Amino acid sequence: MSIALGVNIDHVATLRQARRAQTPRPQDAAAACLKSGADYIVVHLRQDERHINSKDVAALCKKFPGKIHLEISTVLAEKALTHKPFSVCIVPENPGEVTTTGGLRFTPAIKKRLFELIEQLHKKKILVSLFVSPIKEDIHTAAKLGADMVELCTRDYSEASSCAAQRRQLRQLAEAAYWAQSLGLEVHAGHGLDYQNVEAVCKIDGMACMNIGFSIITRALFAGLNTAVREMKALL
Ligand code: PXP
Repeated sequence: MSIALGVNIDHVATLRQARRAQTPRPQDAAAACLKSGADYIVVHLRQDERHINSKDVAALCKKFPGKIHLEISTVLAEKALTHKPFSVCIVPENPGEVTTTGGLRFTPAIKKRLFELIEQLHKKKILVSLFVSPIKEDIHTAAKLGADMVELCTRDYSEASSCAAQRRQLRQLAEAAYWAQSLGLEVHAGHGLDYQNVEAVCKIDGMACMNIGFSIITRALFAGLNTAVREMKALL
C-alpha cells in the first residue's frame, strides 16, 4: 500500500510574513503541492498566527475541501469547528517555541479537554489525530479518548546522534505503530523527516501517512532557484 503524503506549507506563510506581503500565498502553494501528488495539505494555526493565520485556514478549507489537515492546540481547537478542515491533528504548543517539541502530555486536565473536543469535532465529521510520542501508554490513551489516528512524533528519530540511536528510535516507532494499529488507529508520522531519513520510516508496517514540511519547502527553494534567476536575468 502506498503511503500518503501531507505537505506542511507553514513556511510559505513564514516567507510572506517576513515582508508582511500578500505573496507567496499558501493557497497557491497548496494548489502546486496537490498538483504534484501531495495527498493532503497540512497547516499549523498557532496562537500567535506567526505564519498561517485564520484567514488562510478559512480560504484553504473552502478551496480544497477534503484536503486540509489542520494542526492546532487544545486552546484554539474550537476554530476547527468553524473552518471544518478534513481532519485535525491536536498538538502541544508552548509560547516561544521554534517548532513543536514533542507529543502531547496526557495530564488529567488535558485528557478531559481532549475527550470533549474529540466528541465535538466528530459531531462536525472532522477526523481527529493526536500528535503523540511513540510510547505504548500514550497510544492507549489516544485510543481511549476516541481519536481516529495518531501521528507519531519522529523528532527523536530525526535528531538521533548516531546510527545506533537512530535504530533504537526506529524500533520504538515500529512498536508504537504496531500498538496503534492493534487498537484500530490509523498511523501517521511526522517531524524532521527529510529526503535521507524518510524511507526507513516508510518501511514500518502500517504507516499510512507522512506529514512533512521543512525539508520539502527548503528543497523547493533550491529546485526552483535556477529558474527564478534565469527568468529575472532574461528580463534584464
Ligand atoms: N507534524 C507535526 C505535528 C508538526 O508539528 C510538524 C511541524 O509543524 C510537522 C509534522 C512537520 O515537521 P517538519 O516541518 O519538520 O517536516
